[in-house]
Amino acid sequence: MLRCLTLTSDSDTKKLRNIRDNSQWIDAVEIRLDLCSHKNEGCVASILEVAREASLSVVILSFRREEDGGKQTALSEAERLHLLEQLLCPGISHVDLEWGVTAPGVEKRAAELGIRVIRSLHDFKGVPHSMKEMIEESAAAGEIPKMACYPNSSRDVLELLQMADETSHIRDKIVLGMGAFGFFSRVAPQLCGSILSFCSVGERTGAPGQTSPQELEEVYRVSKQNSRSVYFGIIGNPVLHSKSPQLHNPWFAEVRMDAIYVPFQVDDVGLFMRIAKQLGVRGFSVTVPHKQKIIQHIDRVEDAVKRIGSCNTVIRTSEGWIGSNTDYEGFLTPLKGTDVLSGGKHALVIGAGGVARTVVYALVQAGLSVSIVNRTDEKAAGLAAEFGVTRQSIHSQITPGKFQLIVQTTSAGMEPNTETDPLPAYQFKGSEIVYELIYAPERTRFLQRAEDAGCQTISGREMLHAQAQLQFQQFSSAYNLEVE
Ligand code: ATR
Repeated sequence: MLRCLTLTSDSDTKKLRNIRDNSQWIDAVEIRLDLCSHKNEGCVASILEVAREASLSVVILSFRREEDGGKQTALSEAERLHLLEQLLCPGISHVDLEWGVTAPGVEKRAAELGIRVIRSLHDFKGVPHSMKEMIEESAAAGEIPKMACYPNSSRDVLELLQMADETSHIRDKIVLGMGAFGFFSRVAPQLCGSILSFCSVGERTGAPGQTSPQELEEVYRVSKQNSRSVYFGIIGNPVLHSKSPQLHNPWFAEVRMDAIYVPFQVDDVGLFMRIAKQLGVRGFSVTVPHKQKIIQHIDRVEDAVKRIGSCNTVIRTSEGWIGSNTDYEGFLTPLKGTDVLSGGKHALVIGAGGVARTVVYALVQAGLSVSIVNRTDEKAAGLAAEFGVTRQSIHSQITPGKFQLIVQTTSAGMEPNTETDPLPAYQFKGSEIVYELIYAPERTRFLQRAEDAGCQTISGREMLHAQAQLQFQQFSSAYNLEVE
């Protein structure tokens, strides 16, 4: 799998530095003439020299028009093609020509120099229908077809995968999805039958959704992905902010499993189940807003999922898709070293949303007596009634030290609203254990206040880590299952 750095920096000197700084993570570079300040032999020659020093044998020359997502507007079409032809030289391995462009001069010169044509099509609005013919026609002409489209939904992703599937007999092709829905195809190009993934560094990306060469390699091990690689992932909407790929991928690497964990932006869980089947996904994490909806799409769920109404882990087994919830066990893990689980202890849960449900369930299961406090009192009352626990009014005076454990489950204090405190009137006694579920920032104002008062504190990262480790145990067992 080739990793190609698109040279997007605004200065030509920076481009050379970008190649040098990233050479350990790339196999190829794309010179985008439309992004070069000097569109001449000197500029191309200096890039070729640095590419040679970095042992990059693939150098692509492109000259993108505005309608194809580039910056070239100054020249006429004839001038653009003429310049492209003039700048072809030994050392360049591929030249990019857009679908529908007739450029006999460029093609002739490329043939003379043994430069292969990449025939590209860019669609920044969606996934074009029936691209099979274009891909076949281009491949039959000895070119490398490239299809860069912009999926806007799970349905578009299915369409993209169908096209990849229909053209699976064509080995040399580049098929990629831009934007958040297409991100999986950049970090796992294999899934679309693509031989290459583009990446970029610096202030400007080459196209929407491109990530850095370092991330492509160090997180997603793109150069090592192959036809036997097994895929896991996370579904959510949005999903690209998730830190889970940074946890699961190194863990897979550590135990030498040829498995990659990929973020999938999903707006329709039912359609994702079809995508997962088509891609042979063996398991996935589930995040907001799909933790409830996923339940109706899987074959069996554990009891805790039914009780909490939330599922964050799905794996594929011989009995079908099995759903579980590692949040509640992951939540309890950091508490295991403390004495709050030793019986007779009182816990205050702040918040009454989805996360609070999991926490209340876990604490009740662990034998604590629980009270809930929430900005909207009726929600606290509803949750308390459901789990047979008590509630505190948000306006009531809470005696310091009454609760041995305080768990903060609301989004108050989360980035970017880091100034918010969900319980500003509460004075910590200092003997409480205070558990914050927000992990960005690592220390919220609330947690800091608790720490300053002498409380033992637990940050959201600890739960994040614990629930991910429990998921990883499930993923690694699913890795070893061969399921049809
Ligand atoms: P989640 O699934 O993350 O729990 P949720 O179901 O939307 O998300 O619940 C968010 C929780 O954070 C709720 O308890 C909410 O209080 P309300 O029920 O009054 O909406 C709480 N919350 C969000 N912003 C808050 C704020 N600024 N101050 C206090 N509580 C807040």
